[in-house]
Amino acid sequence: MDILDRLEDRRAKARLGGGEKRIDAQHARGKLTARERIELLMDRDSFEEFDMFVQHRAVDFGMDKGEKIPGDGVVTGWGTVNGRTVFVFAKDFTVFGGSLSETHAAKITKIQDMAMKSRAPIIGLFDAGGARIQEGVAALGGYGDVFKRNVIASGVIPQISVIMGPCAGGDVYSPAMTDFIFMVRDTSYMFVTGPDVVKTVTNEVVTAEDLGGASVHTTKSAVADGAFENDLECLLQMRRLIDFLPSNCGSGVPTWPSFDDIERDEPSLDTLVPDNPNKPYDIKELILKVVDEGDFFEIGTSFAKNIVTGFGRVAGATVGFVANQPMVLAGVLDSDASRKAARFVRFCDAFNIPIVTLVDVPGFLPGTAQEYGGLIKHGAKLLFAYSQCTVPLVTIITRKAFGGAYDVMASKHIGGDVNYAWPTAQIAVMGAKGAVEIIFRQDIGNAEKIAARTKEYEDRFLSPFVAAERGYIDEVIKPHSTRRRIARALAMLREKKVEMPVRKHDNLPL
Ligand code: HXC
Repeated sequence: MDILDRLEDRRAKARLGGGEKRIDAQHARGKLTARERIELLMDRDSFEEFDMFVQHRAVDFGMDKGEKIPGDGVVTGWGTVNGRTVFVFAKDFTVFGGSLSETHAAKITKIQDMAMKSRAPIIGLFDAGGARIQEGVAALGGYGDVFKRNVIASGVIPQISVIMGPCAGGDVYSPAMTDFIFMVRDTSYMFVTGPDVVKTVTNEVVTAEDLGGASVHTTKSAVADGAFENDLECLLQMRRLIDFLPSNCGSGVPTWPSFDDIERDEPSLDTLVPDNPNKPYDIKELILKVVDEGDFFEIGTSFAKNIVTGFGRVAGATVGFVANQPMVLAGVLDSDASRKAARFVRFCDAFNIPIVTLVDVPGFLPGTAQEYGGLIKHGAKLLFAYSQCTVPLVTIITRKAFGGAYDVMASKHIGGDVNYAWPTAQIAVMGAKGAVEIIFRQDIGNAEKIAARTKEYEDRFLSPFVAAERGYIDEVIKPHSTRRRIARALAMLREKKVEMPVRKHDNLPL
């Protein structure tokens, strides 16, 4: 056989992974194979595979006698997504259930090191049974090597984890230390210990889906940042996400051609905020009307819906949006919303993505459930995250900015660079009713007096002008001009430079 044919033969064998039968089983479960997934994720013909012929070196439990499958359960390499370099590793469930051995781990760490040297994003596609049971501590050591690199790369290159099958034991902690986790509905789950162990230890009976399926992790635990219907949709959305992300912390945001005029007025925004201050409206409408071509990639769509976070573009360049959502709990800040937004703000700041904050917040959510749940610490995370930002911060107050939440939501005082308010803005310590009931307690029961006091409070404080008089608001803007105002502010801030004091690292309230 010709030497080139021999190479092709070996490659073809490696590409078959665990063999036709296991590939068919994978397909029958509605899942694609590792290589099919990579094909969809990367630009056509751009994927260059590394270590295709790597095999395990285990000898225990008959591993030295059985067939050695080239690749050892993970496909690794690099390619491009819309022309930009991205590194990838994809667990191959058809080979030892994608479980991690010493050599399997070495393949992943090689790719992690390459991604760091090249300062390019890395994506992990997970579909695996955890540590290779036959290898014992060698597999545990391998996980440790991966974890350590995840942490060293944090804030240097974007790291994305996509859960596309089982993900248990050691496999959950690497994703947990990356920037984003996405899941595929019905075919993926993640937990530290599976249903059988749960039953043994706690007597609790639970299915894999109820313990760690996509709906649990996108709505309850917030471990995952989003979920998609199937492998195809998920991978195409990951391509879309990559287009928003910088390659590394020093590269600046990617820019794409945009045909959306930054001068575009949106007359409909002049009537977005209802006359009745208690009536909700959808803040996503404002985001969609501000960003280029209405293209917005939401992060954490199903968790803490009272705050919206995600990426859009203005004048072709990526911007992070954080917005209170009046449609859910009146946009109040609670523990979940605070930690969701805090994590997003820190991602943006780490990767030099400017942040636009849209404010309509009645305050922090009162009550024992919140206080017992650590609202003080969780709220502080968001306050800390914004205060620590050195990226451009543009803030627009559309309606309420009450109490501590006014300060927290990228106010001038904690570092907001350009702070605008719509004429409908109300900036005060609290709403009129609560305020009057406290400061005019003696008048309670006298409806006429209370009404007069309420009117007096509303006239004095429930407008943007008291804040504007003090310079806390740079200008009161017309809602229809919001896109242009944001675009101009971001252009002015493009070269923003702020030095923070030298220190080892801060001590964010975790
Ligand atoms: C070696 C494994 C394996 C593992 C699966 N396989 N998990 N081989 N080590 N951890 C192999 C199976 O033997 C089988 O081989 C093939 O993969 C497919 O597995 P099935 O069980 O047939 O598939 P399925 O029914 O879909 O179940 C998938 C599964 C299950 C839920 C993932 O395999 C499972 O529970 N595996 C063990 C999970 C686990 O406990 N892992 C250790 C976690 S501890 P054949 O040859 O039949 O195709 C851990 C510690 C690290 O990770 C901690 C670091 C912090």
